[in-house]
Amino acid sequence: MPAGEAPDVLVIGAGIAGMTTALRLAQEGREVVVIDREGPGAGETLRTTAHLASALDDRFYHLARWHGADGARQAAASHAAAIDWIERFAAGSGGCGFRRVPGYLFPHDGDERRIRRELDAARDAGLEVEFLDDGVPGVPAMRPALRFAAQARIDIDAYLRALVAAAQDAGVRCFRAEALKVEGGERPVAHLADGVALHAAAIVIASNVPFHEAVAIHTKQAAYRSYVVAAGLPAGAAPDALLWDDGDPYHYVRLVEARDGGDALLLVGGADHKTGQDEDPTAYVRLQEWTRRMFPAVTGFSHGWSGQIIEPNDGLAFIGRDPGGEANVYIATGDSGNGITHGTLAGLLLTDLIVGRDNPWAQLYDPKRKMFRGAGEWLRENANVAAQYADWVGAGDIHALDELGLGEGAVIRHGMHRVAVYRDGDGRLCSHSARCTHLGCAVRWSAAEKSWNCPCHGSRFDGQTGAVLNGPASRPLEPFDPARLDPDRQ
Ligand SMILES: Cc1cc2nc3c(=O)[nH]c(=O)nc-3n(C[C@H](O)[C@H](O)[C@H](O)COP(=O)(O)OP(=O)(O)OC[C@H]3O[C@@H](n4cnc5c(N)ncnc54)[C@H](O)[C@@H]3O)c2cc1C
Ligand code: FES
Repeated sequence: MPAGEAPDVLVIGAGIAGMTTALRLAQEGREVVVIDREGPGAGETLRTTAHLASALDDRFYHLARWHGADGARQAAASHAAAIDWIERFAAGSGGCGFRRVPGYLFPHDGDERRIRRELDAARDAGLEVEFLDDGVPGVPAMRPALRFAAQARIDIDAYLRALVAAAQDAGVRCFRAEALKVEGGERPVAHLADGVALHAAAIVIASNVPFHEAVAIHTKQAAYRSYVVAAGLPAGAAPDALLWDDGDPYHYVRLVEARDGGDALLLVGGADHKTGQDEDPTAYVRLQEWTRRMFPAVTGFSHGWSGQIIEPNDGLAFIGRDPGGEANVYIATGDSGNGITHGTLAGLLLTDLIVGRDNPWAQLYDPKRKMFRGAGEWLRENANVAAQYADWVGAGDIHALDELGLGEGAVIRHGMHRVAVYRDGDGRLCSHSARCTHLGCAVRWSAAEKSWNCPCHGSRFDGQTGAVLNGPASRPLEPFDPARLDPDRQ
């Protein structure tokens, strides 16, 4: 990144939120620089299953309670507007696999009472929805169901590439760089890992989770891991639709159409759990079992991956001015399972705020909003975070290093320290302090992902190097000399 340059707007993060914001601002004549520590889509955007839904996954009867009837209507309308925007952009960019499809919500246990309640709430919110006794066409195990019109799906890889190309054509400059700290003010500044201090008239933090402030926003949202499997399926064996149930965690399904006469691909997601808590090595197997039960025609499984979802305590993202009061700093976070539409909305809303235009949804998504109506969820999540600090007084996962097999990780106690130790495939020990560099919780090992995951606010670190994989931490785990753990060498 060239030192000493001061763009109008610096966007940190090149996912759906950052790139949409950058493109929109450039279209408004702003000089925009985007930085990303790894490159476009390296975060959660390319892990998505890319349901584009105005039928939000947090239930409209909850949204109406948390945000009022008008808030629920605005939530539905704003996501519908985001889908419309994506549709227009995709149409001008070769299509990007965009297709309007219906969405179906069905009860995970056959009990229709909850979806009947959602039917009323979704209608009140302005959605076109109907109750189907026979459930999802062609899938007998999914009945009854609600059918939502005008939902959509997209090829997220093609879409993000088109966004980046359009942004660059509009003058946006993209660099690979990592921001460690941001300070607001008349001329806010981002301090980069290479020592450069980058000033701009405004800074947008679109890093999925803000890394620049310690507490405020992290008490209002929680990080979850979510898993996806991809299954082959004969063409026509599943409807081209968005499908999801009302379990907790819920399953979500969509089709990727067959090419060249081969099998279609079915993407099935779910098995969510709080990051760093209740790690479940059977997540993929459970998803596969569920898929076979719902779609007996499945021919086999080809892929599986996981990603991070940030759940806001009151169901809607936080998009707007920095809630910690940093002047001219803007954030987009709390995307929930609707992050592609939330991220697109962020691009539209933040552009309006930065150019000084009114936006009808600014209040609804204001990161400073109070959690009055979502207070129950807010209290539960924060009590859960507080409980995680108890790890510091407990025993380690293992007592001696020889309990650790190849490719395994565990936390071991060493005097006053807790040390995160990983033995790689060649038998080498990689050890780091287990203290999360965000606010000091003790990290835990994820066997499924070979990473150190923090149970407090969801930071994740590479099992081998300790490098940050997910914020809010912005610094890697502190190295800890493995020789200090070897009793023969003390
Ligand atoms: C398995 C899974 C399935 C999903 N399915 C759906 C779905 O069907 N529909 C839907 O709408 N949403 C879905 N989501 C959610 C959606 O994918 C995300 O909410 C969305 O992609 C987040 O976009 P973003 O731009 O906010 O963040 P990201 O895409 O994570 O982008 C943030 C970028 O910031 C960069 N970065 C982070 N920190 C720094 C730093 N300090 N300095 C520089 N760069 C930094 C990262 O490298 C990254 O590229 C899903 C998510 C997952 C994990
Ligand atoms: S993520 Fe906040 S303490 Fe680890």
